[in-house]
Amino acid sequence: MPATLQGPELLTRFQALERFLLAHQALWRPRPFNHPYLPWETLHPELAQWLRQRSLADAEAAHNHPQHLQAPAPFAELAQQSEALSRVGELPGQALPAMRERLEVDVPGRKWQQIEAFAAGLQFLRPTTHWLDWCSGKGHLGRRLLQPGQQLTCLEYDPALVHSGERLSQHHGLPATHLQQDVMTDDVALRLKAEHSPVALHACGDLHVRLIQLASQRGCQQLAIAPCCYNRTRAEHYPGLSSAAQASRLRLSRNDLALPMSETVTAGARVRRQRDTSMARRLAFDLLQRQLRDIDEYLPTPSLPSHWLDKPFADYCRDLAALKALPPLGVQDWSALETAGWQRLAQVRNLELLRGLFRRPLELWLVLDRGLFLQQQGYQVQLGTFCPAPLTPRNLLLLAQR
Ligand SMILES: C[S@@+](CC[C@H](N)C(=O)[O-])C[C@H]1O[C@@H](n2cnc3c(N)ncnc32)[C@H](O)[C@@H]1O
Repeated sequence: MPATLQGPELLTRFQALERFLLAHQALWRPRPFNHPYLPWETLHPELAQWLRQRSLADAEAAHNHPQHLQAPAPFAELAQQSEALSRVGELPGQALPAMRERLEVDVPGRKWQQIEAFAAGLQFLRPTTHWLDWCSGKGHLGRRLLQPGQQLTCLEYDPALVHSGERLSQHHGLPATHLQQDVMTDDVALRLKAEHSPVALHACGDLHVRLIQLASQRGCQQLAIAPCCYNRTRAEHYPGLSSAAQASRLRLSRNDLALPMSETVTAGARVRRQRDTSMARRLAFDLLQRQLRDIDEYLPTPSLPSHWLDKPFADYCRDLAALKALPPLGVQDWSALETAGWQRLAQVRNLELLRGLFRRPLELWLVLDRGLFLQQQGYQVQLGTFCPAPLTPRNLLLLAQR
């Protein structure tokens, strides 16, 4: 069983991950979706060929565990390094105090399991007097943590969620305050008190970074964060939080930050079909637009309402071309183009498996940056997983205590 990371291990692992990511940038930076041919394919033609001839179903089957794929060199070696560098132990779970109320009613099953696992992974040395649920949604996590004698404040900016949260807390007779608050504004600092123990389950990008920065300034003694959506950030380029990241040669764009988020939990057949059709059409349109513009470059297109997928393929292309003000379409073999889109999709998904080997290493590097920053602010930090990946791939939890 791998151990959780703490103390100097954070920096050691951070640096090892950085070396790995820097050495293989050519393999994980270019996105197969945007480039019909990837620069690394000339370096590893056998691997590229092998991946390109596989089916969409093959890619789907390997998506969550690309490291197990028996692919030509250098795949196995990279997979082995990726696995070794990504190893993080589970946080020792403690038995949760029984619930006084049926708090899980109306919480989707998977979400409730995440909450229970997050709560079980929290082991602070000092007792908590006041929980602060950061970007709380309806505040399910905070309510699950709340024990007799403790208080709870939930911060959330969506008024409907604040209102529902309030009603739920009242219904259960719990000492909880639900505040409508945009955590990105300056006045949020006043909400954060030294006696608070902040918790944040899947507060996206800048939202959890803001908590990390403010909690130390406001003198909080302990906090717990399970980060997600690293790419939901205002900055074009990742600024780094810790001095180690700020001094790093690893420069990350917002696109790069999306890599850890590209792992999807197995979806139902209908959702999968819809996602695949949308991507196959976009890839077909990409072939078309290159030909129409006579420019061999990816052209970003806006996200489209799902009813666009109900249009016949030719109408979809015509409407999207009009939206992008492209030259007239002329005569096209629509059926051949549509087939080419599906072929490209199978290739893209299989080529993505190589990038998949860098998904977790990049995520861990980013989370370690957060951990190193907290260490710099005088916290003792422990990093581990709080649940198995099938429950949520965003399963890393940072515990910080002063
Ligand atoms: C992914 S959800 C997580 C919610 C909850 N922690 C959970 O695990 O169920 C992120 C939450 O952040 C809220 N949010 C987004 N931007 C915010 C902001 N600027 N200030 C406060 N809350 C925000 C969203 O409305 C949403 O409820």
